[in-house]
Amino acid sequence: MKLTVTSVEIKNIKANALVLFLPKINSSKIDYFQDLPLFLKKKIELLKSSKQLPEKSNEILSLFTFDESKFEKLIIVGLGETKNINSEIIRRAASLAAKTAQDFKSIKLAFYLNKQLLSSDTQLNFVSKISQSITEGVMLGTYNYNKYKTSKKKASIQETIFKVDKKFQNEVLIGSQIGRKISSATILARDLANAPGNEIYPETLAQAIQNSAKLYNFSATILKKDQIEKLGMGGIIAVSKGSSKPPFFAILEYGKDFIKSGTTVLVGKGVTFDSGGISIKPSASMSEMKMDMSGAAAVIGTFKSIATLKLKTHVVGLIPMVENMPGGNSLKPGDIIRHHNKKTSEVDNTDAEGRLILADSLSYASKYKPKVVIDLATLTGACVVALGHHATGMMGNDQNTMNELSKAGDETYERVWQLPFYEEYESQIKSDVADVKNVGGRWAGAITAGLFLKKFIGKYNWVHLDIAGTAILEEKSYYSPKGGSGVGVRLLTEYLMNKNK
Ligand code: BES
Ligand code: ZN
Ligand code: ZN
Repeated sequence: MKLTVTSVEIKNIKANALVLFLPKINSSKIDYFQDLPLFLKKKIELLKSSKQLPEKSNEILSLFTFDESKFEKLIIVGLGETKNINSEIIRRAASLAAKTAQDFKSIKLAFYLNKQLLSSDTQLNFVSKISQSITEGVMLGTYNYNKYKTSKKKASIQETIFKVDKKFQNEVLIGSQIGRKISSATILARDLANAPGNEIYPETLAQAIQNSAKLYNFSATILKKDQIEKLGMGGIIAVSKGSSKPPFFAILEYGKDFIKSGTTVLVGKGVTFDSGGISIKPSASMSEMKMDMSGAAAVIGTFKSIATLKLKTHVVGLIPMVENMPGGNSLKPGDIIRHHNKKTSEVDNTDAEGRLILADSLSYASKYKPKVVIDLATLTGACVVALGHHATGMMGNDQNTMNELSKAGDETYERVWQLPFYEEYESQIKSDVADVKNVGGRWAGAITAGLFLKKFIGKYNWVHLDIAGTAILEEKSYYSPKGGSGVGVRLLTEYLMNKNK
């Protein structure tokens, strides 16, 4: 998508649709749009007097325009009270506008950011945040996964134009470029998650990682089955046994030059399809489990985002990739596995496979002497039961990083919610025959899964994010589609950018 920032007069802008954002105005007279051209001002006065102007946030009015205008459409979106305006309200408003424009096949969309909006007293600290949020709303809101649709498709927005006062031009441009990089990385994560299991399996996911590494300038090393075996990663090998597709393990690295200021390791669950294995899942909604590599997708997307933004920070990504299938050679309930750190686990349920491959990966992470390790995994249905689709479950041993992630979550609206991580829950995963058991019974399943992982971490600060509910969406809303949400990319990018400041 092309981004243009301009200060020319509205009548000289070439776009199919013009978008105006309108906060709630208390006075009866609108001077809000004082710098609008007369014909638009008149129109708005008219709408105001007939009480048709949208003012609440997410209210939208779209009109075919009239004589003097070259725009086919005028789209007005309400923002609500000025003091409540934040980046989420802007993202939602922009996505509403963009979706409306898309329905009318408008491919060039102009946002008029008037002085009053850019200098009013909102919760947005920077003008650049407004254009970042608008770009995110447009790109993420008009996304749909249509690769396999033979007859396409909705029109895509090819150009977003920002009409601003000269003094804001530079900041608006910077913000919109940040927004475009982060959105396109989120879209990569969505595309990977939404891709079917016959397209994305461990080998092809590894190839996708290598492609991204080349395109966006980070490094990727792919370990094959024999190397995984040699490293003693018994969990990854065990889970892959039922599948005809061999496992892979990817190591991504960005920003080696900044190693002195500490390393962040990101670990992503890469189960390309989770049938449950011998403990097979019911067939209803089993197809969703093509998205059981959403943790991996979030890590890959985050690498794209931080590499294109050129953040000054050292990040390592670890991605174990397997397909979990039943078969004559499958892992079975009762089997005992030895993991990378030599600890053993008893497999009581082959559908609790994510923790088995993450155990090896978390243990391997010690090698990088990381300052912090963050793992992302569609780990438990229990987390979806607890939190639904609007919050990621968070636990770990490092309150400081959890607080930073909370803050990044509130800003990006990829919100996280900390779960209790009491040691009393640990008795549920005690095994009679091995060091730990891979399931903890009916209660607090998200927490016992986290406590299983904790047995395999090294001496480092660690946070576990259970994205089972937030990565896989049952319905679309605002700028999130049904299916893969790409959750994690915006959260981690924001978190890493904040640390970078
Ligand atoms: N991938 C699933 C978790 C999941 C469920 C993700 C629904 C997204 C939506 C995971 O591997 C799994 O099957 N977990 C089991 C664990 C149980 C056997 C202890 C679960 O949650 O049912
Ligand atoms: Zn499973
Ligand atoms: Zn799974």
